[in-house]
Amino acid sequence: MKFSIGVRVVLANVIGCAGGLMAAETGPARPKQDAKGNPIRYAATGHASNYDEAKVGSFVLPDPLVLQNGKPVKDAATWNTVRRPELIALYEREIFGAVPTRAPKVSADVVATEVGALGGKAVRKHFLLRFGAGERAVALNVSLYVPTGVAKPAPVVLQLLFSNPPGIPQLAKKPFDDAVPAEDIVGRGYAYAAFRYTEAQGDNVKTHEGGVQALAYAPGQTRPAAGEWGTIATWAWITSRVLDALAAEAAVDAKRVALVGHSRLGKTALWAGARDPRIALVFASCSGEMGASLARRDFGESVDDVAANFPWWLVSTFPKYAGRWNDLPVDSHTLIALNAPRPVFVTGGSEDLWADPHGEFLALVGAGPVYRLLGKKDVGATVLPALDAPLISGSLGFLYHTGKHTITAADWQAFFEFTGRHFE
Ligand code: GCU
Repeated sequence: MKFSIGVRVVLANVIGCAGGLMAAETGPARPKQDAKGNPIRYAATGHASNYDEAKVGSFVLPDPLVLQNGKPVKDAATWNTVRRPELIALYEREIFGAVPTRAPKVSADVVATEVGALGGKAVRKHFLLRFGAGERAVALNVSLYVPTGVAKPAPVVLQLLFSNPPGIPQLAKKPFDDAVPAEDIVGRGYAYAAFRYTEAQGDNVKTHEGGVQALAYAPGQTRPAAGEWGTIATWAWITSRVLDALAAEAAVDAKRVALVGHSRLGKTALWAGARDPRIALVFASCSGEMGASLARRDFGESVDDVAANFPWWLVSTFPKYAGRWNDLPVDSHTLIALNAPRPVFVTGGSEDLWADPHGEFLALVGAGPVYRLLGKKDVGATVLPALDAPLISGSLGFLYHTGKHTITAADWQAFFEFTGRHFE
């Protein structure tokens, strides 16, 4: 292992040199990718993306089992009542932001029901959620497919989508299509629910002007205040509101909901799971920086890149950590650990080094002590497993797939096996 868990120290070797930007601005054009096609980004801090394990350097992760007052966490009760709330508070203040007290009220209605959906395999319900009231209300369309002929309430796979949820043709067309395995999922006896993540809160630099966030402003407020939610926390909160609606369905087993998110939606799924214990299992696909991959590890995307390119995802003060990764009071191992003892499955791709699959695996290793404290089995290895060899025997699962930044068929297969073990 290249890292240790203990007292936080600041290491200069993971911080980019300050002069880089100026030199580069006046120098020759800089390559946008390396010889293997990995993207290279040049942050304002001078940091350029690294893909060389030899240059990652060493770092020390905050110990998930040491309280802020320095005392060790020796039992589950201290984790649940002291350390976990401490970490949630740190994430809310420093990383994702807290849900504002003025967050809008939500109503949910079933506006259409289709019997015989998916070639007769499912009943589809179209839910319409409304955030706030009147003209400014924000809508969210959710599809739920429940397998037909199943006597008991069905566990649910809830997927955060980039595209529209399937089965709702009246929604405006979006260019991107997620591979939606609804039929496969229903065939396995699970219900499948999905919504498009940008419908109720956009994903752009001006998103604070509308959506759910704007409904939560006090008079005169124009953007989330310091410490209030960025869009990842908003999407996570919206996910919990979808869960409220699903939990009211008799055909659905709300105690067995697996949340699936890819990439920025994998980051969202991890935070949603941390915040909402009703989420029984999380699958974070290729979630990368500020998701499952360790922020202190200088490989692929960096804190500096996220701070510069997607500042609206996080609290407004987050960019202060650009170039100061070792000052973060948390890292992705603690984000995963906030889901404990519930199972978490993480994937990365051999052609997606931007998301640092190795850093994702090491975060699972770093979350292990919390799972073990809570009586669960950890990821079962400390060295990056071979490609395409899933580690799914414990409550922390991992698969390093051959391939790109996507959920592959093999990922779904491993996810079903992993979920099956925890849901049966
Ligand atoms: C960008 C971003 C990543 C993110 C990804 C995605 O590549 O840098 O952090 O995960 O988009 O959401 O697809």
